[in-house]
Amino acid sequence: MEILQLNHYLCGLLNEKIGITMILKLPDGRTSSILIGENIENLSDYLDSAKVFILTNPSISDLYADVFPKNATVITMPAGEQHKTLDTVLRTVRQLIAGGADRKSVIVGFGGGIVCDMTGFIASIYMRGVKFGFVPTTLMAQVDASVGGKNGVNCDGYKNMIGVFNQPDFVLCDPKTLKSLPARELKAGMAEVIKSGLIADAALFSYVEDNVDAILNCEKKRIDFIVENSLKIKALIVEADEKESGERKKLNLGHTFGHAVEKHSKNVLHGEAVSIGLVIAAKISELLNLITNEEFMRIKNILTKTGLPVSTDITAANLLEAIGKDKKRESGFVHFVLNKGIGNSEIREIACENLAALLDKALKAL
Ligand SMILES: NC(=O)c1ccc[n+]([C@@H]2O[C@H](COP(=O)([O-])OP(=O)(O)OC[C@H]3O[C@@H](n4cnc5c(N)ncnc54)[C@H](O)[C@@H]3O)[C@@H](O)[C@H]2O)c1
Ligand SMILES: [Zn+2]
Repeated sequence: MEILQLNHYLCGLLNEKIGITMILKLPDGRTSSILIGENIENLSDYLDSAKVFILTNPSISDLYADVFPKNATVITMPAGEQHKTLDTVLRTVRQLIAGGADRKSVIVGFGGGIVCDMTGFIASIYMRGVKFGFVPTTLMAQVDASVGGKNGVNCDGYKNMIGVFNQPDFVLCDPKTLKSLPARELKAGMAEVIKSGLIADAALFSYVEDNVDAILNCEKKRIDFIVENSLKIKALIVEADEKESGERKKLNLGHTFGHAVEKHSKNVLHGEAVSIGLVIAAKISELLNLITNEEFMRIKNILTKTGLPVSTDITAANLLEAIGKDKKRESGFVHFVLNKGIGNSEIREIACENLAALLDKALKAL
């Protein structure tokens, strides 16, 4: 995948700069447009089919029904990770059939990461694949789930076990959708933005440090900036390694421990668990002399200032047990993404037998 074009587009009589388009060129020659700062009211402009199906969930439908294109058929799927399943896929496919969806239809996922992941999967398998687009309405979905081509559902409690790689035709990000988002969900999305800065963009990390209050206030200019820059990093990494054989693993910074925290805690959001995972990864990076203590403190402080958790009472043994079952463990070694200063990262192979002591030391020093 290649970023063909990154340009500001102009709109309106005043030539007011309202947004940014990133055009991704896919290996098969198709393109995927990511529209950042666009108005949801303009959604119809991106739909070139008479038959449009909006896939969403009931609460998002209640909030945004007014902006759904008038000719669209709206299908709601139940909210929550427990419903991100093949059962929901099957029920939705039946509704698409009943609604007369055909190969020329366009399916739009309008919602958070769950809606986007399921919509991408359904559109990829419905009649062997129809056109689809996303209107991501959480920060998590705008900076992460809607771009990169991973679509799928959970199976028997295991996350994303069934799915496909496939890119949407368009992704329309409107910062004002984040105003209706619960503050806790917004903060959870910030963990991925901070992660992106840490992996590859020191300027993005500093921008968050300088503007965190305005970002949490959903100021359009600030949201557009963090979405654009997080997505640039994701697009560049995915371009280098679409199927996650090497470079793409860097996007998992904080996620090995994050997933372990998620498995051991009830009521923790993914971004909150990632925040704890980021601090643990940063402390291990400090213990291995990859970052200084000041850099560790910058990471911990910005997560704290964002309102994200930075410690856990889960023991090293429990975290390791969960990591042992994680798909990232390979033959006696665990591949960890670690910080290398701020804005750089590397993948290290750590022997499982050394990990217990390292993790124990890190947890005590958080
Ligand atoms: N495909 C990927 O690369 C990728 C990347 C990251 C996350 N994900 C997936 O995304 C999912 C998490 O996504 P999420 O954090 O967006 O959670 P979510 O989709 O569950 O949305 C969070 C909550 O916010 C509500 N909501 C959404 N938009 C709203 C709005 N504008 N106003 C008010 N309420 C709104 C939803 O109804 C839901 O209750 C997980 O299943 C995860 O696996 C996928
Ligand atoms: Zn994540």
